[in-house]
Amino acid sequence: MDNVVVVACTATNGIADGVAEILNVPLVKVESRTLPDGESYIRVPVDVSDKTAVIVQSLYPPQDKHIIELILTMDAVKGYRPGSIVLVMPYLAYSRQNKRFLPGEPISIEVILRMLRSEEADAIVTVDPHRQESIKSFNGNYAIVDPISLFAELFGKRSKDMVVLAPDKGALSKAMDIASVLKVQFTQLEKERDRKTGEVRLVGEQNFRFEGRDVLIIDDIVSTGNTVIQAAKFAKLNGAGDIAVAASHLLISEETYKRMVESGISRVVGTNTVPCKYSETIDVSPLIAEALKKIL
Ligand code: R5P
Repeated sequence: MDNVVVVACTATNGIADGVAEILNVPLVKVESRTLPDGESYIRVPVDVSDKTAVIVQSLYPPQDKHIIELILTMDAVKGYRPGSIVLVMPYLAYSRQNKRFLPGEPISIEVILRMLRSEEADAIVTVDPHRQESIKSFNGNYAIVDPISLFAELFGKRSKDMVVLAPDKGALSKAMDIASVLKVQFTQLEKERDRKTGEVRLVGEQNFRFEGRDVLIIDDIVSTGNTVIQAAKFAKLNGAGDIAVAASHLLISEETYKRMVESGISRVVGTNTVPCKYSETIDVSPLIAEALKKIL
């Protein structure tokens, strides 16, 4: 790690500091401001020539501004002629638009990854992207961090007669993984989403027994909250006890949090890939530092 420097871009939520401290490498914070006309100004105040520059930027809201600031930071870093550039993007925005759901739509995640590659990123590290396969379109070295072990550690202490609930097919492998660590049962709901209105409808496994059991709903992202709210309502209707939600990326407003609580969710756990005032937060910096040790 002799030649490594961590460059904290504008949105790291403490992860850049955490990673630099764990790896015991220098941390450079970019200077940034918004110009009077709304454009972003960036400056990297320390010479990083010949270094491996690990730029940390989580692409949480406002996503588009954070993406531009990342691209500008990459160019600022390139101006010093670094040895290589590694991007750490704890939350990878646009990962849910991974296909053309309706004719005429872009494949947004591919656009973002291609752009980062063409801006000369050598490798990327991200946390629990919506679909792992999408990362291949980066066409370079990458590492994916999975916070499941951290969730399992947290919920392991009270897993007696708990059931893990995947609110849709995409969350099934997560539910299976955490259920196998916790040695509890899991079940899955089928989600049908109206692509135009965003409305979701859930259908459960027939005869699955929820009565009196605590439920852990697991997902990658909570945004409008509709998916986990419907899942919680389904579990409550079927007699569930306490309901907790664990998700890697919580993009929730106060209003969404209130609706989650009203639906019967009593505990919300997320990670620091996205700042969230309404949850217990697990720090993913140690996992990112481990991934960087392997990739560098
Ligand atoms: C979708 O497939 C994802 O895994 C999440 O379930 C979804 O993005 C959550 O979004 P929302 O909270 O808006 O329902």
